[in-house]
Amino acid sequence: MTKKILITGAAGFIGSHVARLFVNQYPDYHIVNLDKLTYAGNLENLKDIESAPNYSFVKGDIVDAAFINELFEKEQFDAVIHLAAESHVDRSIKDPLAFVYTNVIGTINLLNAAKNCWQADYSNKRFYHISTDEVYGALGAEGLFTETTSYDPHSPYSASKASSDHFVRAYHDTYGMPVVISNCSNNYGPNHFPEKLIPLCINNIKNNKPLPIYGDGKYTRDWLYVIDHARAIDMVFHNGKNGDTYNIGGFNEWQNIDLVRTLCKLMDAKLNRAPGTSEQLITYVKDRPGHDLRYAIDATKINKELGFYPSVTFEEGLEKTVEWFLENEEWLNHVTSGSYQQYYNAQYK
Ligand code: NAD
Ligand code: TYD
Repeated sequence: MTKKILITGAAGFIGSHVARLFVNQYPDYHIVNLDKLTYAGNLENLKDIESAPNYSFVKGDIVDAAFINELFEKEQFDAVIHLAAESHVDRSIKDPLAFVYTNVIGTINLLNAAKNCWQADYSNKRFYHISTDEVYGALGAEGLFTETTSYDPHSPYSASKASSDHFVRAYHDTYGMPVVISNCSNNYGPNHFPEKLIPLCINNIKNNKPLPIYGDGKYTRDWLYVIDHARAIDMVFHNGKNGDTYNIGGFNEWQNIDLVRTLCKLMDAKLNRAPGTSEQLITYVKDRPGHDLRYAIDATKINKELGFYPSVTFEEGLEKTVEWFLENEEWLNHVTSGSYQQYYNAQYK
């Protein structure tokens, strides 16, 4: 079936993998990538698909309602997969309003434009909102987030994502908009922006720079390889139920310090360094304010209903990731120059 699908934020980390999967797997779909190209958006992520006949790029800001309404009128999208967001917790602590504009107002602008275009006939339409497990807040040593866990966000980032989730559900309940939401755990993999823990440590190990561990390093995250997240998004987009939420996780919990030690061992081997060399770079630094102790997903629903399970183990995924970063030095040099340097110096001074 021919479909015109808007993917927002497809120049970013996860969005680029989702766009690639859809462009390659569904030649009958036309994929329109709408991205503002903030510091996190990089068209180099999409080089291999940029001239595909079923792909096009539009530069624009989801906060600009008039522009979004015009784009929807012109393009008459059949579906939206919404990933555009400000996505880094530490940046949200420094500048919460930027997160309100893009994550909350930007999402509402997209919902309004979709409603205006679709409300006469919602059949075969879909608004798919990509969200995070961070909306559920923090777990103690036990327990898992399920789709019915109450929202309890702590950071400006997670508060803005929680707000956007509520608006998406409100448009379903109030206006009958066919929506679906997924809340995923921490992703890692190729094209990950090196402000996040794993790519930051890969880059710093490579350059013999300190590996900053917040607090005691015992904070726990559930890690999923980004290409597996893209596979899960494909499944939810095609087979998820309207109005439903799906939690997506990696069945893969790690304390930060254990993860970084594992990464150090892997990098020592890849860089032909003596075992134990990179671990000496580990440096405990001031904790993140409001730091959530543990995230862990119960992914039973998406596993049972849609058959999702990660295709790679963490060891395999981490090795692929490290190899990608070592082979793509130019990519890393481009994204770590300029404004990234200023951010890095301010965050870790
Ligand atoms: P990212 O920061 O790498 O990419 C975000 C993209 O959105 C960039 O290309 C950026 O240019 C674009 N963008 C930002 N503001 C925009 C605006 N106002 N208008 C248009 N485009 C704009 O983020 P990511 O890690 O790829 O995350 C994508 C989505 O997945 C986000 O909604 C995030 O909340 C969610 N998510 C991320 C993770 C994770 O581990 N990274 C986990 C679960 C959910
Ligand atoms: P991050 O990659 O920023 O993802 P999120 O905050 O969305 O989970 O951080 C992952 C974990 O690593 C989190 O517990 C914070 C921690 N962390 C550090 O210890 N040092 C760092 O320099 C960064 C960026 C994160």
